[in-house]
Amino acid sequence: MKEKNNFLGFLIRLFKPYLIFIILGIIGGLIESGALAALAFILKNVVDDVFVNKDFESLKWIVGVIIVIAAAKQIGFFLKEYLYPYAIYKVVQNLREKIYLNLLNAEPSFFIKHPHGDLVSRATNDLEAFVNVMKLLGVNLVAQIFTVIAIIIVLIYRDWKLFTIFIIAVPFLVIALNYFGEKRKKYSQMLQEGKGEYTQMLNQTITGIEVVKLFNKDIFLRIFRKLNQELFRREKKNVFYETFYLSSVEIIAYLATAGIIYYGGYRIIHGEITAGDFFSFLGGVLILVNSLQILQRGAVQLKALSPIVERIQFLLNIPQEKDEGIEFKGLKDRILYDNVRLKLGENEILKGINLEIKRGQKVGIVGLTGSGKSTIVKILPAIIKTYEGNVFLDEHELREYSISSLRRKIGMLSQDVFIFNDTLRNNLLIAKPDATDEELIEALKKAKADFVFEKLEKGLDTPLGEKGSRLSGGERQRISIARLFLKKPDIVIVDEATSALDVETEEFITEQLNKEFKNNTMLMVTHRLKTLEIVDKIVVVENGKIVEEGTEEELIAKKGIFYKFFVLSGQET
Ligand SMILES: Nc1ncnc2c1ncn2[C@@H]1O[C@H](COP(=O)(O)OP(=O)(O)OP(=O)(O)O)[C@@H](O)[C@H]1O
Ligand SMILES: [Mg+2]
Repeated sequence: MKEKNNFLGFLIRLFKPYLIFIILGIIGGLIESGALAALAFILKNVVDDVFVNKDFESLKWIVGVIIVIAAAKQIGFFLKEYLYPYAIYKVVQNLREKIYLNLLNAEPSFFIKHPHGDLVSRATNDLEAFVNVMKLLGVNLVAQIFTVIAIIIVLIYRDWKLFTIFIIAVPFLVIALNYFGEKRKKYSQMLQEGKGEYTQMLNQTITGIEVVKLFNKDIFLRIFRKLNQELFRREKKNVFYETFYLSSVEIIAYLATAGIIYYGGYRIIHGEITAGDFFSFLGGVLILVNSLQILQRGAVQLKALSPIVERIQFLLNIPQEKDEGIEFKGLKDRILYDNVRLKLGENEILKGINLEIKRGQKVGIVGLTGSGKSTIVKILPAIIKTYEGNVFLDEHELREYSISSLRRKIGMLSQDVFIFNDTLRNNLLIAKPDATDEELIEALKKAKADFVFEKLEKGLDTPLGEKGSRLSGGERQRISIARLFLKKPDIVIVDEATSALDVETEEFITEQLNKEFKNNTMLMVTHRLKTLEIVDKIVVVENGKIVEEGTEEELIAKKGIFYKFFVLSGQET
């Protein structure tokens, strides 16, 4: 029951700001139903006065009245069919914005746990389904209820005995409504989930198309066919139950109509009612059946609505990052990792990290793959927050600072460079939104991204393609280095970003970073000895712990892990 209230409350909250459009829509619906009832009502005069009594004067006013009714009906139609969808689209516009903001501000860990394609599907397929269902419901439903009431009044007024025939059909309608409605709800939910899986599969295949092609395409095809078949099965079931639902309603309606014709004809033959009464009644019944059908379709959709809304609500309840706390204005004294531990799932990733980095110091972090190097540095810009122990930036613990201020002051060059499907300019501006073209070009030059000027036909305005697909791996990395030069962070983190570059460029970049960030604090995760030449100290990470710490000479003299893995084995691990 609580859930139902939440669901309705949620819809009411969404639509409340647009109440005026909904009220006008309802008024439109009222006018429309009134007009329909009036048409059914006036049918008696058409038959009795014009057809039976052949009264020409009556014909004139009847036609006049019909024209007025038709005009009113169209005004009502406009109010209902334009203003109500207007409100729906406004609501959807707001939802899209809220969802986008929620995704932007989501806890980074949320995206590790949740399939991305499913999120996209909820924000597209489910929003679209929401529009379609809401259009059928809402004002339409209210308008149809009015029509039903107005027509029932006309029917009872014309002949209440005939009307009882209709009442007999009601329990049958209710049974059909419940049975098929439940089925429909189940399959509509499964259908939306299936659509999510489909979007996800497309997403993954397109994003990873090169891997897909290089490995076994058949496996993808097999998975896809199974998924597609299942999606078809759900669509089929969904439409099956909808059809049967509507058809059962229709059968009941036709049986009731047959009964009315039989009993009504009997009463005309025995002079109990006029032909006008009967036709007015029959006209009303036809409108009523139509309205009931729309209502029942609405009831079916109502069953589909709650799973759709639940799927959308999920997006509105994504855990959000809180951006509160003191502003981090830059490092004054030191960074101190104090017994930092981290568990992800069952695994203990960091097992008590203790590390001090003085302001302006350059620290190299080395270690075998999977030892926890990236994890250690990702704590600083609050990408990872669930650690135990403390990380102090000067006198305050990291978690006391506002996240946005940390991220403004900390720059990170990471293992995977992300280039947006946008122009080179916009890809750079994310680092400094108000930068001039001159600044952008200077940053590119410093990052040795000169290829930009030779290769890209439209210069800064060249679109870089999906994930920067028109650039080489090294070129993408230089763009990300240019971003760092534009951002001018206080603390610089380099997470093996030079690994995709050739040795010559790498040395240049290391040199440039060192020059550009001469006085900045730097953490450099690297596999290369060359890079380590510029650092003040090296820490060696093994299995979530710091096992050695010192200058290059000290570590070599020690002949420990560093010496064994990074010096003896040659240039790189
Ligand atoms: N979300 C996660 N859930 C569980 N384990 C994770 C998660 N992310 C990373 N890990 C694990 O944490 C460990 C440390 O990962 P990390 O990325 O810090 O290694 P690394 O030292 O940077 O390795 P590399 O040199 O390959 O970049 C790895 O064993 C990895 O499998
Ligand atoms: Mg790493």
